[in-house]
Amino acid sequence: MSSITVQPNLLLERVLSIEIVRVTERAAVSAARLRGHGKEKGSDQAAVDAMRRELNKLPIDGTVVIGEGELDEAPMLFIGEQVGTKAGPKVDIAVDPLEGTTLCAKNMPGAIATLAMADAGTLLHAPDCYMEKIAIGPGYPKGTIDLDAPADANILSLAKAKGVKPSEITAILLDRPRHSDMIAAVRKTGAAVTLISDGDVAGVIHCAEPKTGIDIYLGIGGAPEGVLAAAALRCIGGQMQTRLVIDSEALRERTRKMGIKDPRKKYEIEDMVKGDCLFAATGVTTGPMLNGVKFGQNLIETETVVMRSVTGTVRRITAEHRQFDKFHLD
Ligand code: FBP
Repeated sequence: MSSITVQPNLLLERVLSIEIVRVTERAAVSAARLRGHGKEKGSDQAAVDAMRRELNKLPIDGTVVIGEGELDEAPMLFIGEQVGTKAGPKVDIAVDPLEGTTLCAKNMPGAIATLAMADAGTLLHAPDCYMEKIAIGPGYPKGTIDLDAPADANILSLAKAKGVKPSEITAILLDRPRHSDMIAAVRKTGAAVTLISDGDVAGVIHCAEPKTGIDIYLGIGGAPEGVLAAAALRCIGGQMQTRLVIDSEALRERTRKMGIKDPRKKYEIEDMVKGDCLFAATGVTTGPMLNGVKFGQNLIETETVVMRSVTGTVRRITAEHRQFDKFHLD
């Protein structure tokens, strides 16, 4: 009889890829209890508390590198917070316990609970500022897109690489006044524009999900969301370039303290996520990527997508939770 051996660290990484599902599930359920109540802060705090509690049960020596802000402004899951039992590997963790706080408060599609995990020192330590971003899905030659090229040039280049007319390209952008010129430039090529009110982690991931019909993400969103999206694309393929938007002296100083020498650096995925990583997201409200939490009479149902870059495996886990008391402890 042959025995299958798996390297211990790989085994742990495989175990963690399932364990992190519990973390985003709990955060999503806690936030979902407040869906539609107009309480951005309340639902975010509920998700943060639940995520922190679950992270602290994991056999990891973890540091939050993308979190809910700095220690003085965030009571939990702040940048630099240590999480886990310490009986395990040193890891960096990027969290967004409730991505789309407004979506959750208004019970609109697309709110998720999400996190990424990677070896210590391999995730970009980014401040909670804005980030310029451009992303496409897998299968295109390197250099198809360039953050520094005008939006219309990127659309034309992508259409050529895809072998279609520009009118067959769909771009996704956050619906913000700051994007009005970019939207006009994209539309001038004949391409379509899908506008989202919030939630650009999923916005970037949509580019790598053919069923969404989205080809390219363009525009400015949050830097923490940028690193999380980069982790997902590291797992499923695609191209992404980003640059931090450092628009004040205070931010420049904070960025310097975080170890970023060149604040104008153009990041590729490999600069934001330097090694293998895990990524998980659970739906809070139903959106194009995930079903939201369903509260039944004796059942809570969640849907989670979990990815591993080592193999590129993407699992969708629909879970039925029966032990409500576990969730009530949240
Ligand atoms: P929150 O969950 O923190 O509200 O973030 C939602 C979001 O839409 C992100 O997906 C996006 O990156 C960012 O806000 C954009 O920031 P802004 O709303 O200031 O344009």
